[in-house]
Amino acid sequence: MKAIVATDQAAGAAGMMLMERPEPRAAINDVIVEVHASGFVPTEVTWPSTWIDRAGQDRTPSILGHELAGVVTALGYGTTGLSVGQRVFGLSDWHRDGTLAEYVAIEARNLAPLPGDADFTAGASLPISGLTAWQGLFVHGRLQAGQSVLAHGAAGAVGTMVTQLAREAGAHVIGTGRAADRQKAFDFGSHEFVDLDSDALEDIGRVDLVFDVIGGDIQKRSAGLIRAGGTLVSITGPAEAWPEDGLAVDFVVESDRAQLGEIVQRVRDGRLRTNIGNVATLDDAVAALNPTERSKGKTIIRVRP
Ligand SMILES: NC(=O)c1ccc[n+]([C@@H]2O[C@H](COP(=O)([O-])OP(=O)(O)OC[C@H]3O[C@@H](n4cnc5c(N)ncnc54)[C@H](OP(=O)(O)O)[C@@H]3O)[C@@H](O)[C@H]2O)c1
Repeated sequence: MKAIVATDQAAGAAGMMLMERPEPRAAINDVIVEVHASGFVPTEVTWPSTWIDRAGQDRTPSILGHELAGVVTALGYGTTGLSVGQRVFGLSDWHRDGTLAEYVAIEARNLAPLPGDADFTAGASLPISGLTAWQGLFVHGRLQAGQSVLAHGAAGAVGTMVTQLAREAGAHVIGTGRAADRQKAFDFGSHEFVDLDSDALEDIGRVDLVFDVIGGDIQKRSAGLIRAGGTLVSITGPAEAWPEDGLAVDFVVESDRAQLGEIVQRVRDGRLRTNIGNVATLDDAVAALNPTERSKGKTIIRVRP
């Protein structure tokens, strides 16, 4: 089968290649999915799990991509809950071959049914950004209606999901980003916008929850803006700063069938808009995933037309 493969850690995203790889086999509790669409997070090439397995052994050549939408074609031993022919979407294991391929072997628990009226491109755009936003806001951040959220990178993949879900939950959302992101942040539901290059972040006053997707100095300054009892949620690595009188949580997103169901239901009924930029074929994926211009949304690879 055709797949987008990484072999050279030093080369980063520029080193990915379209290669022929053996079709995967279903292990215990796996399914095989015929991939129709796949998502990719540009920082994947910096994650240790792209290069080593859970035992710490070199696992290259590794197939990139961890988001998918497709159709189940085979079940592994002991697998329940999904059937051959079923449309599914979800988030694949960080340490295993991924979804930028014609087929992927994936544990059934990492998938959810994809309703017939949700297309594969939308399905592949949701798992990482949607689940990260959901878990950061509602599981780790324990967001309540009436609270305020500082949503960093509000025009980005995670930020557009954070903004929409927080607003739907009754929060006041202050989005941040670059000057060029202002309109997009408002379009996705931000009530206010802070241009991090020219506005004073400190002018926003106190907030209940900071959803940080940037880290570094922005995270440190944001920690000082959290109201007593509030939470700093970070997804860029161990939190570098702590609120004086609140919590700091850093986490890595996990697949969750019920949460995937909540997210796709919102896309179907119009409460949640996807943030998709370029859509390219698997043959064109290397160029599409190494863009020369600033991203206008998530790049999705249509593995099958
Ligand atoms: N822990 C987890 O489970 C998890 C899950 C998902 C993502 N992540 C990580 O979270 C980060 C964001 O992911 P994403 O997919 O949302 O990325 P993205 O689509 O690139 O969104 C990030 C947004 O923040 C903006 N931004 C970054 N630094 C900025 C700065 N200093 N000032 C102003 N704006 C800035 C970016 O603008 P530019 O493009 O111009 O920089 C972009 O619009 C990545 O590091 C990713 O690896 C972690």
